[in-house]
Amino acid sequence: MRLQARRYGAGLVVSEMVSSCAVHYRNERTWRELLRIDERERAGGPVAIQLFGSDPEMTRSAAAHVAALGADLIDLNMGCPVPKVCKTGAGAALLDDGDRAVAVARAAREGSGLPVTVKLRSGRRAGETSGVLLARRLVAEAGVSAIGFHPRIALAGHRGAPDYELAAELVRTLDAPVILSGGLHTAQATREAFDATGASAVMLARGVLGNPWLFEELLGRRSAPPSDKEVLRELDWVIARASEHLGTPRATRYLRRFYPWYLERLALERAPARRLSAAVQQAESFAGVRELLADAVEHGAPMARVLA
Ligand SMILES: Cc1cc2nc3c(=O)[nH]c(=O)nc-3n(C[C@H](O)[C@H](O)[C@H](O)COP(=O)(O)O)c2cc1C
Repeated sequence: MRLQARRYGAGLVVSEMVSSCAVHYRNERTWRELLRIDERERAGGPVAIQLFGSDPEMTRSAAAHVAALGADLIDLNMGCPVPKVCKTGAGAALLDDGDRAVAVARAAREGSGLPVTVKLRSGRRAGETSGVLLARRLVAEAGVSAIGFHPRIALAGHRGAPDYELAAELVRTLDAPVILSGGLHTAQATREAFDATGASAVMLARGVLGNPWLFEELLGRRSAPPSDKEVLRELDWVIARASEHLGTPRATRYLRRFYPWYLERLALERAPARRLSAAVQQAESFAGVRELLADAVEHGAPMARVLA
């Protein structure tokens, strides 16, 4: 995902959240997979790793390891609503414990010597705006360089309209750049939210799953949707990168949830698209996936133009 976002013009891409505890204790899978920095990521912008955890000393140690691996920036997750994470005092639970949150951010800075950013929610529960207060403290007391702000309360998960007015208030009053997240699924929605909030940058999330072309649209590099040919080529690229990263057997299973995101971009009728999507998800191998796409061609689907 990071390599793809870069190819399409993203200026800053951040890893998925990685447990500080797992980094500190040198969990084998964490080090091998989650902390792997691909040299191709270094082209075009800083390499950023996101850590989560609630223990300042563990964060200090993890941040030092991440810096030694060659990251340029550390992002801290203080917005994850998942109970398994919050139960440990990490993620969005830090919104309820400002002192600890500040200590964690300070430790990340001191441990790594790198710039530190924090990703926050607006609050935990309905009506709360603790994220705004915490953002100010993190900048003033811990020297955090920027705030990624997702203005939905943690309890809402990823549902409902983000509170862009609250984001605008944060932008006006924070002495650091605000990177806006939430609900940025189309170019129009993103431009409107960017203008309405005055944010320094936008962070795309679900909107670019199967649609990296959204980056190009926002950067003014394209206006037309991708052709079927481009979509299938991109899917091939994704398969190749996932195989490199995870090995073919795991990548085969891992990519099953990706196919519908790409296939829905094709100019297919809904019923055949659904059948194709289901069949591709059940395919045992990448060869099987490609065969199914070729089969769809034979039956006159738009891919005929692509693979012919
Ligand atoms: C499945 C899933 C996993 C996510 N993982 C992370 C994560 O590891 N770190 C993070 O900061 N945000 C994570 N997010 C939150 C997104 O970065 C983003 O803030 C959220 O999806 C809202 O933006 P959107 O409405 O444009 O998708 C995740 C969201 C989803 C749906």
